[in-house]
Amino acid sequence: MDHFEWTEDLNLGIDIIDSQHKRIVDYINEINVAIFHEDVAMIFDVMERLKDYTLDHFAFEEQLMNQAGYVLLEAHQQVHRRFEDKIKKLEDSLLNGQDPFGVARRIRTSLMAWLIQHIKHEDVDYVPVVKKVLNKKQGWINAALDRIFGQTEEA
Ligand SMILES: [Fe+2]
Repeated sequence: MDHFEWTEDLNLGIDIIDSQHKRIVDYINEINVAIFHEDVAMIFDVMERLKDYTLDHFAFEEQLMNQAGYVLLEAHQQVHRRFEDKIKKLEDSLLNGQDPFGVARRIRTSLMAWLIQHIKHEDVDYVPVVKKVLNKKQGWINAALDRIFGQTEEA
């Protein structure tokens, strides 16, 4: 099974973001488990939760960058939107009856590759700007987590 281990070099040093990225990796590993056990229902279930969580994470990250006054916000948002389209297309092919294991493998491979390069090349760029305002924004962060992820989902 291609279990993906989180490595230190993927940490941005912003705990709230790092834990969200780790959660996305957990979902990718759940997809691996579903492929390994040939569990179609699990693939559908994880795909749904993975999509919802990733979209929520993007929303949180974008609002945090906005709060910090990050100048490349718009470009970063476009990168997120393009990836959302990709996830939605993969979900559509799943719902339209394509081989769920083939789709699951594509999701696993493309999401993992995308996440690693996105963290290392794009997310890393907002870190200094966001870190500067983190201490002053704790109240806002807690409210945003509740608003975006909901009370029941620990972010
Ligand atoms: Fe991002």
